[in-house]
Amino acid sequence: MQKMLRRVGFCIVIMAAVSGQMQAQGDRLTAIKAAVAEFVEDAYQYGSDCVEILQSVIKDPRHVGAFTASSPFLARATVTKLCDREVEGPLKILEIGCGAGTITRYIIRNMQQNDTLDAVEYVPDLYEKAQTKFPREHYPNVKIYRGAFENWLPEGVENIGDIDGSYDRIICTVPFTKLENRVVVDILRKAYRLLKPDGIFTYITLVGAETLGYVKPDVRDRRAYWQKMHGFAGWRARYFEPCGSSFVFFNVTAAMVYHLKKKPEVID
Ligand SMILES: C[S@@+](CC[C@H](N)C(=O)[O-])C[C@H]1O[C@@H](n2cnc3c(N)ncnc32)[C@H](O)[C@@H]1O
Repeated sequence: MQKMLRRVGFCIVIMAAVSGQMQAQGDRLTAIKAAVAEFVEDAYQYGSDCVEILQSVIKDPRHVGAFTASSPFLARATVTKLCDREVEGPLKILEIGCGAGTITRYIIRNMQQNDTLDAVEYVPDLYEKAQTKFPREHYPNVKIYRGAFENWLPEGVENIGDIDGSYDRIICTVPFTKLENRVVVDILRKAYRLLKPDGIFTYITLVGAETLGYVKPDVRDRRAYWQKMHGFAGWRARYFEPCGSSFVFFNVTAAMVYHLKKKPEVID
């Protein structure tokens, strides 16, 4: 009888171990399937966004400033600070230059319940694309706006003073090296105003594009470019201080992602 009970007990232990293993294998398989589905979806969306960006850069090279959309690697590096949540409560996020919604998708993926996103895009075709991807009925916390960020105000706000210091994260992918100096300063100054004192401003620059600017054949172009970059560094240092950066090789072209904190009390 004792022998029999021992055998039954042994069988139960073996069956539990096998079913545990099967459960673990099942979980692993589900995770792998989800990762593959996400990879395929990212690759498909990247391809389709690149087509949109290419069409738009031909029409408006100054504003669009890139021949392809940000790669999934760059998009992931750009949204890393959304995961650093030092304070409790929902995040208010702003995206400047959302294009066809390439990085917007990664922002949304990293948003938590009650986080909100305002995204602003200048080029009408790209705005339409982003708007179609993230309609309000399906994404109630996401608002896509058409316009130039420097003149933009969110729905229902009449005075910029009402939203001073209200955003926790600002993600900006406008091509600073291509835009007029006046616009660059206006964007930096406004981003500074809208950012919370402990907020983070993230922007990207395409490394290859910058290098090409430095080796322009005409010496006057080269000088103007150096002056622009020097000016940008000065304005950037006036409003913000660095709090992290990363280099992304897998993008057309390779890119730098910079994270900045707001300097206290800048008097303009
Ligand atoms: C290099 S594309 C980046 C698009 C997309 N975020 C991505 O990462 O693939 C720059 C985007 O910024 C937009 N843009 C440029 N100047 C802008 C401005 N002043 N206000 C709002 N959007 C602007 C352009 O229309 C373009 O879609």
